[in-house]
Amino acid sequence: MSSELIHRNQTREYQPDNPRNTDSSSSRHNSPPQKSRNMLRDRAPFLLIGIAISTLFFHFLPSLQHHHDSSFIQTELTLPTRRVLLEEHGSTRNNEDERKGRVPLAVGLKNKKNKRVLITGGAGFVGSHLVDRLMERGDNVIVVDNYFTGRKENVIHHIGNPNFELIRHDVVEPILLEVDQIYHLACPASPVHYKFNPVKTIKTNVVGTLNMLGLAKRVGARFLLTSTSEVYGDPLQHPQAETYWGNVNPIGVRSCYDEGKRVAETLAMDYHRGAGIEVRIARIFNTYGPRMCIDDGRVVSNFVAQALRKEPLTVYGDGKQTRSFQYVSDLVEGLMRLMEGEHVGPFNLGNPGEFTMLELAQVVQETIDTNAKIEFRPNTEDDPHKRKPDISKAKELLGWQPSVSLREGLPLMVSDFRQRLFGDSKGNGGKGSSAA
Ligand SMILES: NC(=O)c1ccc[n+]([C@@H]2O[C@H](COP(=O)([O-])OP(=O)(O)OC[C@H]3O[C@@H](n4cnc5c(N)ncnc54)[C@H](O)[C@@H]3O)[C@@H](O)[C@H]2O)c1
Repeated sequence: MSSELIHRNQTREYQPDNPRNTDSSSSRHNSPPQKSRNMLRDRAPFLLIGIAISTLFFHFLPSLQHHHDSSFIQTELTLPTRRVLLEEHGSTRNNEDERKGRVPLAVGLKNKKNKRVLITGGAGFVGSHLVDRLMERGDNVIVVDNYFTGRKENVIHHIGNPNFELIRHDVVEPILLEVDQIYHLACPASPVHYKFNPVKTIKTNVVGTLNMLGLAKRVGARFLLTSTSEVYGDPLQHPQAETYWGNVNPIGVRSCYDEGKRVAETLAMDYHRGAGIEVRIARIFNTYGPRMCIDDGRVVSNFVAQALRKEPLTVYGDGKQTRSFQYVSDLVEGLMRLMEGEHVGPFNLGNPGEFTMLELAQVVQETIDTNAKIEFRPNTEDDPHKRKPDISKAKELLGWQPSVSLREGLPLMVSDFRQRLFGDSKGNGGKGSSAA
């Protein structure tokens, strides 16, 4: 540019009609200092313009940069889940979030009294009862379920409620949602279902749990894992306290579930220790109630369906193996107390009332059909002999204990099964979960 200016000036100097060339001899024969003065005078406006442009440029550079970043984020935010980034950019991030590298909730949600809660597996048996309680409390509930064993019918009464969202999604794939709490239930729970595709079961337990813990870390949500009494395997300690490490076959047909849940517990604890995630672990013992899958191979649903269909009750082995049976409303209360409390766990959540399979068959006979027959079959592989929770820890730290006895809870389940099997109007359509 400067060479062009020089060139132009030089050209102008030799132009015969240039008004400055009135004294042609003086202009043509300028002395060197005079010449440079002239050049300086000619270039001054351009220099001033140059300085002005660069001043303006450097003055606005930071805001241009800022604008550029925001517009990048704006573009990203076309995905609803990325909305949190904008909130974060708007400096809602606190030091705690920053230190833990997590993305906080959108503004407005954090201060809301009612929580936004994700329930994976929320269309299943336990999950749908939990949905009912949280909706009753006024929370915003999001259910994520792939309907492997769950059913839309279990939560259909909430569809249309603005506080409720139902998403068909497999937890083996990541998902981004803004929530305060995650109840992670997604996993087939009955042997028939978890043995159906054992590799998928372990993937759900490992990859699915990893994905949900990753989400908890990202949005700073509290995470509750529904583990199982199966982590104790065929226990050598009776009753089982949380301190017992279990006796589990790592290569058996049930291992995809038992070991899967053990790994899920490990992952939860490692995210807790390593990334500061608030985790809660519940070890659930046999639970029954309305909305259980009818032919899922679990002993209570098997006996009830068989008695209602006038089929013999199938008892595996000698029928002397024991189980404890917890009504679903007791479990849901325990899960909520655990989530809201300050203790990580693990906590046994179950009913310590212990029944042999034969005793359970008798209660079913008394409730449904006193003439129902009992048929013995060979026992299944790795079936634990004894199962009874020690719930002292939950009693002491959560102030929780079950309140519904088997004789109170069973009729509620029977009426739901009757309704689903025969469309009997006497049934309650699965809404009778609250026996307490
Ligand atoms: N019911 C019990 O007695 C019992 C005992 C111990 C532990 N648990 C645990 O409690 C949780 C709930 O059990 P439940 O009895 O309600 O079982 P369920 O089979 O009725 O519910 C599980 C739900 O998870 C969903 N699901 C399964 N795999 C999924 C996936 N990959 N992605 C998304 N959704 C998926 C199913 O469709 C279903 O809705 C399970 O984690 C189970 O291991 C239950």
